Amino acid sequence: MDVKACIFDLDGVIVDTAKYHYLAWKRLAEELDINFTEEDNEELKGVSRMDSLDIILRKGKKEISQEKKEELAARKNEWYLEFVNEMKPGDELPGARHFLDTLKENNIKIGLGSSSKNAKLCLSLLDMTDYFDVIVDGTMITKAKPDPQIFLMGAEKLSERVENSIVFEDAIAGIESAQNGGFKVVGIGDAKILDKADIVRSSLAEVSLDELKSLNNPK
Ligand code: G6P
Ligand code: MG
Repeated sequence: MDVKACIFDLDGVIVDTAKYHYLAWKRLAEELDINFTEEDNEELKGVSRMDSLDIILRKGKKEISQEKKEELAARKNEWYLEFVNEMKPGDELPGARHFLDTLKENNIKIGLGSSSKNAKLCLSLLDMTDYFDVIVDGTMITKAKPDPQIFLMGAEKLSERVENSIVFEDAIAGIESAQNGGFKVVGIGDAKILDKADIVRSSLAEVSLDELKSLNNPK
């Protein structure tokens, strides 16, 4: 395919904040006496803050008021931000910065498609904001992944066609979101978990531009 734009999820693709989301949710779950494992956490990846809380509460069979939910979600976010605020340039995932440099050198547009309301803060702490021609984050979307809205909005803002754009995702909900929008998608993480992606690599350090160009070609 003619690769003209790449749209990246943030948490778990550019930076390992997926780990911090997990630790903060686990702390909250423990306070609520709900068992919450790393396997349970896969279901939360790519999912909005409130939807994530609902999944945890459902797992623990707890029903609570909207007001209490808001309070719990805010508390989780405070714990999450304690980790995030320690981040500095160099803390991005292996190969992320180098891969973005390669895209820039090849005049390929770069977009962010993250459900997180903290996405801009994370990019700024990593000093990576300037790589992105367009940022779509959790403050801008009305439909959560696996709805394709976030990536379609990204392609539109980049003025690129879906057929010429590739999405990079570490979450099952994110891969579905991209595919629902008609995008080719590179899974970043475990091939056993992300088996629906077109290709899966353990990190951006393992992705080459040439293999992206051959994504559409029958093997
Ligand atoms: C990303 C992460 C999710 C997180 C969501 C909202 O999609 O993968 O784990 O729940 O963003 O993040 P926020 O920072 O707004 O709570
Ligand atoms: Mg992610």
